[in-house]
Amino acid sequence: MARTIAVANQKGGVGKTTTSVNLSASLALSGSRVLLVDLDPQGNATMGSGVDKSTVERSTYDWLIDGVPLAELAVKCHGGYEVVPSNTDLTAAEVELLQLDNRERRLAECLEAAVDYDFVIIDCPPSLNILTLNALLAADSVLIPMQCEYYALEGLSALLETVEGVKQSGNPKLAIEGLLRTMYDPRNSLTRDVSRQLIQYFGDKVFRTVIPRNVRLAEAPSHGLPAILYDRQSRGAVAYMALAGEIRRKYVPSGTGE
Ligand SMILES: Nc1ncnc2c1ncn2[C@@H]1O[C@H](COP(=O)(O)OP(=O)(O)OP(=O)(O)O)[C@@H](O)[C@H]1O
Ligand SMILES: [Mg+2]
Repeated sequence: MARTIAVANQKGGVGKTTTSVNLSASLALSGSRVLLVDLDPQGNATMGSGVDKSTVERSTYDWLIDGVPLAELAVKCHGGYEVVPSNTDLTAAEVELLQLDNRERRLAECLEAAVDYDFVIIDCPPSLNILTLNALLAADSVLIPMQCEYYALEGLSALLETVEGVKQSGNPKLAIEGLLRTMYDPRNSLTRDVSRQLIQYFGDKVFRTVIPRNVRLAEAPSHGLPAILYDRQSRGAVAYMALAGEIRRKYVPSGTGE
């Protein structure tokens, strides 16, 4: 069975998509079979994976609303993983889902077909909307990227309450995979303070790996590549490989290719 990880934080621009794409590529390079689900109508994970969202014929929308089979949707990309692409069509799904009986469980049902993967990574939109709820109901765990800045902790409590609500109302197995410090700048004292607080409150739920602020991570998507293929020596690429290692050590028995 695949380990399904929702990458979520309702705060915008904290590194959800950068993490989804680079974690997917790093897990794939380490030998795991990975499916990346772009659950954001912005389609950034799609473009960052080198798939042109404007030419996509079938997207996450068709999967969630019309039940088009996964095998017809998943696109193999340079990063060595497969992606279910998305574009603005998915905005309509938000409204259409509200009219369906099992509206919060559509993605969970769709993912029952994802038997050939070791990891499913879901890139969530910057909102606690019906799409994100679908991700949380489908996931084994949630990975929370966050910038270590003043307001970060405030948003975090709303997200953690939602996770708790989903656990109680329909997905008891949902766990916190970890809090990931992104765009980390150790020279900034506020960053260090917030980071310290995070570790104080959440202990080993904070990933040891820290993602530095690194321009290569910001450049790579414009080439449709994960950082590991764009500049494998870059600090950003190395950090995401370390994150993949941290996660694989929890779920992949050592000594096996998979
Ligand atoms: N570690 C990093 N170093 C430098 N730039 C980064 C880093 N992580 C992300 N960025 C840049 O910051 C911006 C926001 O990142 P990203 O798109 O991953 O965030 P997001 O949480 O997915 O945003 P949204 O909420 O809009 O979906 C992007 O331009 C991205 O290239
Ligand atoms: Mg995003």
